[in-house]
Amino acid sequence: MLKETLLEGQQLADAALDRLIPLETEHPVSIHKAMRHSVFAGGKRLRPILCMEAGRMVAGSLPVGIDELGAALEMLHTYSLIHDDLPALDNDDLRRGRPTCHKAFGEAIAILAGDALQTQAYEVLARLKCPAEARVKIIEEIARGTGTVDGMIGGQVVDLEAEHTKPTAEMLEYIHRSKTAALITASLVSGGLYAGAKDNEVGKLRAFGLGIGLAFQIVDDVLDVTQTSEQLGKTAGKDTASEKATYPALFGIDASVRKADALVNDAFLELQSFAERAETLKELARFLVERKK
Ligand code: IPE
Ligand code: IPE
Ligand code: MG
Ligand code: MG
Ligand code: MG
Repeated sequence: MLKETLLEGQQLADAALDRLIPLETEHPVSIHKAMRHSVFAGGKRLRPILCMEAGRMVAGSLPVGIDELGAALEMLHTYSLIHDDLPALDNDDLRRGRPTCHKAFGEAIAILAGDALQTQAYEVLARLKCPAEARVKIIEEIARGTGTVDGMIGGQVVDLEAEHTKPTAEMLEYIHRSKTAALITASLVSGGLYAGAKDNEVGKLRAFGLGIGLAFQIVDDVLDVTQTSEQLGKTAGKDTASEKATYPALFGIDASVRKADALVNDAFLELQSFAERAETLKELARFLVERKK
């Protein structure tokens, strides 16, 4: 069941991305090659999958065209990874099992490829096949989730500023909720909005997203210390080397794993009113904390 959900979601997301991102042969070719290098490198596509499954849960079946919303979310996520890897940020050479965008294409093109994926995402969002009112809410939700106030960019700023310091638990939670949980939450909420979710359903998706999104980043930090670069497709041990503010650094591995588990179990309670329709999202949440890459 989980396997099929992941496979179907990955295929839908990949097909939409391939339709929506300009071909490598499109002028100017260097930027399109760079965008495709980073997008088609075997990401897990978790944000599109969470978005589509939230839509399916709310509507009862997969809403037509929601794969394009998923693709826009993946473009934004990939832009955040390209910029996260830049020498001025985490300075990483390996991503999704390939040289990072700036290693392959140079810093200037990597910066522009990140920018380009962001603008491409909003072009796609503006054309979504859902009622205009929902479309506007979706765009606002995603812009806020990737922005500076409790959003992805704000979290990245504090993540960088917290290097080589001993953060408080509150600071750490702020960083993780903002840099990672905010986009995961926006993925679930936007999928719900696309499917016509009512305000109270949106609230439940939001609370679920904040919980599993925090758990997701705690597990990312744990995997950074427990896995190899080959397994992860990105440089392992990087957080310790950069003295990043992470859960394992502050609380140890075991306590971090328990915290992630507890967050997911608590998040399940938010979906109670969806009854058995919530099963797939719950399975996905479990997968987020049990994954090995
Ligand atoms: C990595 O995200 C960056 C974080 C926010 C922790 P993923 O683990 O979803 O990376 P991909 O998309 O599968 O490469
Ligand atoms: C990055 O967190 C979160 C983003 C917003 C991209 P990390 O810096 O831990 O992500 P990885 O480990 O490089 O994928
Ligand atoms: Mg980072
Ligand atoms: Mg990083
Ligand atoms: Mg990491």
